[in-house]
Amino acid sequence: SLPVENVQWLAASGDQSKIPERYIRPEIQVDPVLNGEEDGELPVIDMSKLLHIQHSQEEAMKLGLACQEWGFFQLVNHGVSEEVIERMKCEIQGFFQLPLEEKKTYAQKPGSVEGYGQAFVLSEDQNLDWGDMYFLVTQPPFSRNLEFWATNPPTFRSALDQYSLELERIKSILLSSVSKNLGAEGLTDMFKDGMQSVRINYYPPCHHASKVLGLSPHSDGGGLTLLLQVNQVEGLQIKKNGRWLPIKPLSNAFIVNIGDTLEIMSNGKYKSIEHRVVINPEKERMSIATFCMPRLDVPVGPIPKLVEGSEELYKTLSAVDHLRLVMANKLKGKNSLDLMKL
Ligand code: SIN
Ligand code: FE2
Repeated sequence: SLPVENVQWLAASGDQSKIPERYIRPEIQVDPVLNGEEDGELPVIDMSKLLHIQHSQEEAMKLGLACQEWGFFQLVNHGVSEEVIERMKCEIQGFFQLPLEEKKTYAQKPGSVEGYGQAFVLSEDQNLDWGDMYFLVTQPPFSRNLEFWATNPPTFRSALDQYSLELERIKSILLSSVSKNLGAEGLTDMFKDGMQSVRINYYPPCHHASKVLGLSPHSDGGGLTLLLQVNQVEGLQIKKNGRWLPIKPLSNAFIVNIGDTLEIMSNGKYKSIEHRVVINPEKERMSIATFCMPRLDVPVGPIPKLVEGSEELYKTLSAVDHLRLVMANKLKGKNSLDLMKL
C-alpha cells in the first residue's frame, strides 16, 4: 500500500479550513440517516443466558434471529471482566498518546497491513478515510509478529494478550450456539485455532465532520467481528433498509457482527451488513475491532448440509483465494461478497 499522511498528526497540526481534497466525500450527505425509530433497536444478546440451562434455548433463538435479520447485535453479560476491558482501553489510549515518531516504530511495512498506519491505500486518487489504525494478528499465538507489538505502554502486550484470549472464549460460545441454530455442528470446529486479529482505530475530530468518513462503507470479510468502543464517542453506523442507522453501544457491551465468510457458509441465512464510521467535529474516537476467521485449511463456501433442498447461492474458494478477493475489493462496499454470488 502507498504511504499517506498520518491523520492524527494532520488533524492536530493542520489549518483545518483546508483539509486535503482526498478526504472530502461528496457522497455522504446524500445518504439520509435514520434516527432509530422506524427500524427498531439493535438486538441485545445476553451471554449469561446463552450459558444458562433454563434460558439458553430461548436466547439462542434470539441470537439466530439477530444474525438473520440484522447481522449485528450487542452482546452483554459476556463475562469479560471490567478490569480486562478497562486495561485494554487504557493501553490503547496510552498508545495513541505516544509521539508520532514513537508510534512509527511499529509502522506497516510495504505490502502488509500489519502494524501502525492507514487502511488499504491502493491508488493516488483514492479517497482517504479520516482515521489511523493499528492492526495486529493476535491468535493463534505462534502467528504473532511481535516486531509490531508495542512495548510502550509497557503493559500493552500483556493487556492485549489477555484481551485476545478472552475474546477467543466468547467467539467459541457464540459459534457453538450459532452452529446449533443453523444445524451445522461442524462450524465451531472450523473456527477452532482460526486466525484472530485486531484493528485498533483512532479517529481524530474534524471541523468538516459532515464531509469526511472515518471508515468507508464496507462489510467485514471474516466470520465474526467483536467491536469494543474505547471511549464514549459514537460513530458507527450500519445500513438498514437502505439507510444509515447510528449505533449507540451499551456500556462495555461488544457490538458483534456477521462477516462475509459466515454469510457464505450459512448459504445466505445470516447477513453480513455494510457499515461505516462517521466523525465527531470536536472529539476523538477510538475503537478496537476483533476479527475471527476460520482456519486456513477450511474452504470458504456454503456448508453442504445447509444447501440441501435449496439453491446454492455462493461459490467456494480456498481460504487464501477468498482473502485475496477481500483484500482486492476492500474499498468497494460489498463487492467482494457480490463476487462470491452464483
Ligand atoms: C470497523 O468497521 O471495524 C470499525 C468500526 C468502528 O470503529 O466502530
Ligand atoms: Fe468493519
